[in-house]
Amino acid sequence: TRFDHAFHKAADRHERVWIFFTIALLALLFAGTLAFVAVDFGVVAKGAGFYKSPLTPADSPLFKSGKLVKTGPSAYSAYVTGKLWYWTPSPIHVPQGATVTFYVTSADVIHGFEVQGTTINLTAIPGVVGTVSYTFDKARIYHIVCNEYCGIAHQSMIGEIIVDR
Ligand code: CUA
Repeated sequence: TRFDHAFHKAADRHERVWIFFTIALLALLFAGTLAFVAVDFGVVAKGAGFYKSPLTPADSPLFKSGKLVKTGPSAYSAYVTGKLWYWTPSPIHVPQGATVTFYVTSADVIHGFEVQGTTINLTAIPGVVGTVSYTFDKARIYHIVCNEYCGIAHQSMIGEIIVDR
């Protein structure tokens, strides 16, 4: 009947609008999730720069030396490697007030380089070096933890930064 026809037309329009909104919402959620995952896995760094090395960074002399490198009056570079299941070097001694630029990589699987009580948090990825800088104003001990699940002893993967007075 004529009434049924009009009703179905209206219903179709209504349905199309809702299908559109549903798809738009799903697309937004998907894009948001992708962005979150990208940041979380260090594909996009949080306030940090990443570059791909043609070498395996963990095997390079800088990472193997385990030494804090002085780069300015109170500036240092630290080359840190995550391994199953420890951070090296550790402990890292830092003079109070020093600004340390960390270069972080992994020798095996993905680890999460987080220094508790600071804003330092980046992903340690094999073959990739992440960087982050931090100024240590307080004389205290900081713990480096792993915040990316990496196997049986993940929770015991703890290093130390000792800020000397
Ligand atoms: Cu390394 Cu979790």
